Amino acid sequence: MNKLLLLTIFLGIVGYCTALDCATGASTQDNITCYCAHGYYGTDASKGQTCQRCPDNSTSTSGSANTGPGINIGACNQCVNGYYVTAVANTASSGTAVQCQQCPANSTTSSAMSTVGFCTCYDPNAAPLSSSVTTCACKSGYKGTPTTTAGSASTCVANSVILSIFAALLSLVFLF
Ligand SMILES: *[C@@H]1O[C@H](CO)[C@@H](O)[C@H](O)[C@H]1NC(C)=O
Ligand SMILES: *[C@@H]1O[C@H](CO)[C@@H](O)[C@H](O)[C@H]1NC(C)=O
Ligand SMILES: *[C@@H]1O[C@H](CO)[C@@H](O)[C@H](O)[C@H]1NC(C)=O
Repeated sequence: MNKLLLLTIFLGIVGYCTALDCATGASTQDNITCYCAHGYYGTDASKGQTCQRCPDNSTSTSGSANTGPGINIGACNQCVNGYYVTAVANTASSGTAVQCQQCPANSTTSSAMSTVGFCTCYDPNAAPLSSSVTTCACKSGYKGTPTTTAGSASTCVANSVILSIFAALLSLVFLF
């Protein structure tokens, strides 16, 4: 075995022995303090304790926001990407987690949200979603089917473009 390999193994063993053990569902950044991991919450993240997993489709921020004596399920205050908030989290009394709803087809959220809102259609020319608009459709002044691919160009066509094509065709008819 070469020296570098031996050194690596030695350092690995030393590192393992000095690493701070934390609760299930927790980890440490500095080997001094344990915090419940992202997506978990708990009153004590030290070894032997357990951090609870946030309800499906919701998540938490690791640190003092999701770990400590006063922490409850209200620490699960963000919906994961692709889900929007229908009711915010509440940390009062025993707490309630944020309520999340999956984004309608062909829409998403750009980051984990914690305030009540709606998803954004992939198509930049789609009408904004709301409590009454729950499917993606081209906004007023546009026709066609909104794009079904995130990040791609709009597939809604402006009425003015359609009109000018029509006008061009019509002028051809008159020319010949
Ligand atoms: C914490 O311990 C681990 C394992 O021993 C080590 O790899 C890491 O560098 C340590 N981090 C700090 C910030 O001391
Ligand atoms: C999470 O999302 C899925 C898919 O939309 C849904 O079936 C499930 O009920 C949600 N879970 C919770 C706890 O809201
Ligand atoms: C969303 O996209 C799918 C194809 O990926 C399509 O079948 C569906 O009709 C679209 N829904 C809406 C509401 O635009």
